[in-house]
Amino acid sequence: MLNLKFPYLFYGGDYNPEQWDEIIWDQDIRLMKKAGVNLVSLGIFSWSHLQPNENTFTFKWLDTIMTKLNDAGIFINLATPTAAQPAWLSQKYKEILPVNEYGIRLSYGSRQSYCPNSPVYKEFSSQIVRKLADRYKEHPGLILWHVNNEYACHNSECYCDVCITQFRKWLIKRYHTVDALNLAWGASFWSQKYYKWEEIILPKATTTAKNPGQVLDYKRFMSESHLKNYIMERDIIKKYTPNIPVTTNFLPGFKNLNYFKWAHEIDFISYDSYPDPAPGFKPSDPAMLHDLYRGLKHGKFFFIMEQAPNQVQWRDVNVCKPPGMMRLLSYQAIAHGANAILFFQWRQSRFGAEKFHSAMIPHNGRTDNRISKEVGMLGKELKKLEVLLDTHCISDVAIIFDYENWWSVENHMNPSNRIKYPEQIGYWYEQFYNKNISIDFVPQGMNLSQYKIVLAPLMYMVHPDAEKPILEFVKKGGIFITTFFSGVVDGTDTLFPQGSPGPLQDVLGIEVEEFAVMGRQMKNSIKANNTKIIYDTSLWCDIIKLKTAVSLAQFEEDYFAGAPAVTVNGYGMGKAFYFASLPDYKYTKIFLDGLLKEKNIFPALNCPPGVEVNFRKNNNDIYYFIINHTNSENSIQLSCKFFDLLNGITISGDIKIKAQDVKIFKKL
Ligand code: GLA
Ligand code: ZN
Repeated sequence: MLNLKFPYLFYGGDYNPEQWDEIIWDQDIRLMKKAGVNLVSLGIFSWSHLQPNENTFTFKWLDTIMTKLNDAGIFINLATPTAAQPAWLSQKYKEILPVNEYGIRLSYGSRQSYCPNSPVYKEFSSQIVRKLADRYKEHPGLILWHVNNEYACHNSECYCDVCITQFRKWLIKRYHTVDALNLAWGASFWSQKYYKWEEIILPKATTTAKNPGQVLDYKRFMSESHLKNYIMERDIIKKYTPNIPVTTNFLPGFKNLNYFKWAHEIDFISYDSYPDPAPGFKPSDPAMLHDLYRGLKHGKFFFIMEQAPNQVQWRDVNVCKPPGMMRLLSYQAIAHGANAILFFQWRQSRFGAEKFHSAMIPHNGRTDNRISKEVGMLGKELKKLEVLLDTHCISDVAIIFDYENWWSVENHMNPSNRIKYPEQIGYWYEQFYNKNISIDFVPQGMNLSQYKIVLAPLMYMVHPDAEKPILEFVKKGGIFITTFFSGVVDGTDTLFPQGSPGPLQDVLGIEVEEFAVMGRQMKNSIKANNTKIIYDTSLWCDIIKLKTAVSLAQFEEDYFAGAPAVTVNGYGMGKAFYFASLPDYKYTKIFLDGLLKEKNIFPALNCPPGVEVNFRKNNNDIYYFIINHTNSENSIQLSCKFFDLLNGITISGDIKIKAQDVKIFKKL
């Protein structure tokens, strides 16, 4: 049986011993123990060290380090090294290298320089995975498999001949006939009609706008191409070690893979968290990603597979994490459902493109520096939190998120290039976050009955299975909120024949007549019924015709002054709201306060602004996380007794939480 129960909250990181003389390995392990490390991700980019040529394999060094780690009681998250193939392989089989949209074959010399559909890549990567899995299948230290690394980070597109052939096969399977494809892609436009499958190509660089239907299918195809490689490796691994969980580390906020689809094939979610600590950092940003990734597998635990102990090296300017921030963000991840805090990487590289990326210890191996001390302290603290392992987060509120919608709604031929899907999701998320109301993320088509409020901001694309659960949810008393530019296209990026909001017209009780988008200099404002207060609004104004809905707020300016800006429609026992524009936060705050009250949704504890509260629970216990993101001490009034896990004391009444500090309480 697959074992998803781990013995610890894992702590550790990527470990690349192949970059170091063996003499350093014992020092590494000694320092890992000192820092509380209990898991390392090993061998992620080690292919050229494991296979010097087509017929030779060199596992001795890996045997040695795995034995040493296991002897020290450090578990191994063994990586397949397939994110970077050796130079000899690229040189001998040039067709493995990806081709860009201009038809140029890229060179090797970096990483992920392979075409995901390359048969050569598939053959050699499955061979090395087979060898690894066979060799280490009984290794006592092997507790996890880490397949590849951040799939599609650098090679999410390839336009080589193999990809064209595979794309055609994929299309034949999807559409069966060229006519069906023509229909889905709207190919009667701009003389794009196809007569034979052979005429169909990849959306390469061309004169002007590409066909949106073709681009959408290409993105689907590429996401699936990478997924096939994951499945190929996973299936090999499962033959040798059926009980050991297999995962791959997802990128943070990554657009190009449909992670909801990927999640079905993965034993548990792991992802890499790299919020920018520079001024302007908002704690709601990493929180939102934690909730999204937790949602990929419907609320099950996830791992932070990588985070930076201090700064990264790949931004324009790589700002440091100030003292305490790494700890705070680690606890925030745990509060949102993470069961492992791992870093990139254990020891800073002395060379290569990432030599200025922070690590748990610097390249000189010293631990008397700020970061290593913080790392060591956190390692010790986490040992007190193993009770959290079988607890999970729960929410009354959900946001519907859809990757294909993201791909299509940001098409540059849409009415405004100023709309960005994650920003629109973030607008709503942040307001719940600021009220300390927990949020789940769900895909389109999911049953929503466990929630009281469901939001679907910028739900431009509505898939055929999405309508029914929304209608049922509202009918049974749920609150549904959606926004401008929603219900516009079907799953082929074709406008709904009835106009917007398409299949959501009845539940929302409106029709949209015009998309009056706003440039940066344009202004409008809205006024809510029964108030004199006027709120700025920006970005977009849908001009709406009411059917059965009523208007709650009206636009103040422009030729559509007086038209509805926010509407509500009673539907069954519930209500569906439509935001035709993006009002100032102040309006939405008041709006949401009313709804939360109506639905009896309250934060787990009342805390001052800037203090985040979450909880995780199981059938017996409930654990609260209080995270003070502010730079000042705050006090919180507790209405019952709690056990403070980090300090080992019972507390109640008025408590203080220091600036940038965290408290984890069990309710007694
Ligand atoms: C990613 C990769 C790592 C490393 C880090 C640097 O997350 O998975 O290999 O490149 O970024 O931040
Ligand atoms: Zn290719």
